[in-house]
Amino acid sequence: MTGAPGPRGVRLVGTGRAVPKRTLTNADLEKLMDTSDEWIVQRTGIRTRYISDRANDEGVSGLGARALGLALEAAGLSVSDLDLIICSTMTAEMPCPPAACLIAARIGNPGCGAFDINGACCGFVFGLNVAHEMVRGGTYRTVALIGADTLSALQTYTTAGRSTAIIFGDAAGVVIFRADPNPSLGIIAQSMHTDGTGWKDIYVPRCRHDAPPGVELPESAFGHVQMNGAGVFKFAVGTFPRLIQETLDKAGLRATDVDMYVCHQSNARILHAARERFNLDESRLYVNIDRYGNTVAASVPLCLDELVRSGRVKPGHKVMFLGFGGGLTWGSSLWQL
Ligand code: COA
Repeated sequence: MTGAPGPRGVRLVGTGRAVPKRTLTNADLEKLMDTSDEWIVQRTGIRTRYISDRANDEGVSGLGARALGLALEAAGLSVSDLDLIICSTMTAEMPCPPAACLIAARIGNPGCGAFDINGACCGFVFGLNVAHEMVRGGTYRTVALIGADTLSALQTYTTAGRSTAIIFGDAAGVVIFRADPNPSLGIIAQSMHTDGTGWKDIYVPRCRHDAPPGVELPESAFGHVQMNGAGVFKFAVGTFPRLIQETLDKAGLRATDVDMYVCHQSNARILHAARERFNLDESRLYVNIDRYGNTVAASVPLCLDELVRSGRVKPGHKVMFLGFGGGLTWGSSLWQL
């Protein structure tokens, strides 16, 4: 499991992604609820998303295991090389066991540690910071970090649920890191923040006791995402550029020193606003929300896998990962690859 203790570099060695078979386009949504392709595209940039089917083995652990298999293949590693499996998710199939343990069982039970973290839409970026420190510190050599979510299970595809049902999609993405003798590889700067008082802007109540003070929830709300869309939008559109600037300042870099910004895909308008604020050209801040929707913890590794496999992100690049979402949470992770 371990190598020589002490600080060392952390190299990204493989990525993978998996999506369910079924797509749900805006045209499909028009048949289920009072909405339109034009409204959805204009407000969010989303055109289609993937929707999982548990009967088809497309829960978090099914998708996560498929993505992890592909990442191991890309890294040229075998299951027994893994020292730790971390799964960032808010939609594990069951509260117990952790999805990471189910994933471990599915890939051949390497016997290593496995646990979940829940940081909602920010979970994968928080996971990057945590996993990196475990490798950098010398305790673990090879760590797989999975981001997987199936928010479709927390939606009603009706007019009453339309403000959230149109946004979310299901997917999994994976990154594998390894200890490396080159100490300059790994995180250059990072940040993690929470404003817990903002929790009521996006939450999933289980029962009436979970409602914010003074709010009476109908039973139909239990188990379904409740979101103050305008509130989350305002939070994200303001926080996002501040987070980029904070991370650049910590690293002593300019916006154009970063080769690629890999951001949580919450809304295309929020991403475009950040791109304009830092005067970045289109190729430097990746957007794929049109094809996947907001896939919560999966959105950042999904982007990264596309970028790595298409050769747009490669060794030598500086890449800034950014997330924000329920909690409220926001965080960054700036890497030298
Ligand atoms: N189709 C058509 N109309 C819809 C609709 C839909 N899917 N969803 C909501 N509407 C309607 C509302 O009912 C409202 O109608 P009204 O004015 O008659 O009451 C109108 O559109 C405007 O609603 P509003 O919620 O103010 O729209 P918006 O411009 O804020 O866009 C979001 C809604 C959800 C797209 C937008 O707020 C958003 O993207 N927020 C951020 C969400 C996010 O990123 N969440 C994830 C966090 S990680």
